[in-house]
Amino acid sequence: MRTQVVIVGSGPSGLLLGQLLAMAGIETIILEQKSKDYVLGRIRAGVLEEGTVGLIEQAGAAARLHSEGLVHDGIEIAFEGSRHRIDFKALTGRTVTVYGQTEVTRDLMDARAAIGAPTVYEALDVDLLELESDRPVVRYRKDGEACEIACDYVAGCDGFHGIGRRSIPEDVLRAYERVYPFGWLGVLVDQPPISHELIYVNHRRGFALCSMRSMTRSRYYLQCRLDEHVEDWPDEKFWEELTRRLDPDVVGNLRTGASIEKSIAPLRSFVAEPMRFGRLFLAGDAAHIVPPTGAKGLNLAASDVAYLSRALIERYASGSGAGLDAYPEKALARVWKAVRFSWWMTQTLHRFPESSGFDQKMQAAELEYLFSSKAAQTALAENYVGLPY
Ligand code: FAD
Ligand code: PHB
Repeated sequence: MRTQVVIVGSGPSGLLLGQLLAMAGIETIILEQKSKDYVLGRIRAGVLEEGTVGLIEQAGAAARLHSEGLVHDGIEIAFEGSRHRIDFKALTGRTVTVYGQTEVTRDLMDARAAIGAPTVYEALDVDLLELESDRPVVRYRKDGEACEIACDYVAGCDGFHGIGRRSIPEDVLRAYERVYPFGWLGVLVDQPPISHELIYVNHRRGFALCSMRSMTRSRYYLQCRLDEHVEDWPDEKFWEELTRRLDPDVVGNLRTGASIEKSIAPLRSFVAEPMRFGRLFLAGDAAHIVPPTGAKGLNLAASDVAYLSRALIERYASGSGAGLDAYPEKALARVWKAVRFSWWMTQTLHRFPESSGFDQKMQAAELEYLFSSKAAQTALAENYVGLPY
């Protein structure tokens, strides 16, 4: 087999890249190690920046996003018994859209199927070879058979545990990491959301987040310890703990019920540099992870893909590799700013087990400054709605 670009991974970054390249007449094959149903069963991010929405439009997959997505003008932050609104629209003129990653993935898969572009699901043992030559080769197994694709470029869109980053020699790759001493326990429930906007809660018992997927489906998170398991958290205990962390004036709106999904995600910041090795280019979680507090993971995958798709389109249109050469530096400049913002949101809103009295005073001062300063709120707002690219 032969194609122009092999894309490893059919998460949001791989699917979006495939669609943007297809629009420019560039052929791709996507290799995904899991089944389509497995990929669609993962519940992850929920907030899209305007830039991400624009890319999904360009990809021809935004019809349902526009009819079902919820446009939010701001968020609330709860601290010491009161809620403070950060008005994105007033501060930046921009908004965010609440629409689940699962739905984005489904829409992009449907758009890919509609143009007849190939995806190989359950492609096992993907191996990337000859990356430093101008004819990379990708091998994998499908239904027990060995397969091989010759291509011009490989896009490693295969997430944190993928093969893309691991195909870069250790002496070339530099990793930067911070692991946080807690996780997020998430619950999805078919009940109307507690409020019309997201509420981020800094409470002495730990962080909480009230989010949503639609006007009938809510998503809640609680900061939990790293040694806790989903089985330790029957629904009743989850709702009790969430109730304790919410202000009395919103708690009356909380509609509880049987969870339809429950999972624990550890929090980490991670960046691998460079995002290129020969003809392999990394995008999304394959190159970097951010804690979910800033709602940046999926949006950062989208901005990587915007840079990478433009560079590949330029390469095929004009023969110039300048855009591809500039990709790692351009993408990483935006990545590091999102890493900083997500780290700041995490640091400001969670209770750290080892924090001293001084650390807690600093956190309270940070929040009180934020609530009283338009400049500080603008800084939060412009990062949350997404830096330009
Ligand atoms: P992924 O979505 O991870 O997709 C990678 C794909 O590659 C997967 O389908 C995987 O099966 C496939 N793959 C992996 N290895 C191979 C291989 N060797 N061969 C072939 N295919 C392979 N972000 C937020 O903003 N808010 C959240 O609440 C949030 N919650 C999250 C919860 C969890 C548990 C995780 C893991 C992430 C969460 N994120 C969240 C982050 C966000 O979901 C990611 O940033 C986003 O999924 C990145 O998209 P991606 O396409 O780069 O990677
Ligand atoms: C979500 O709805 O899953 C969500 C929203 C905002 C975040 C993280 C997750 O910061």
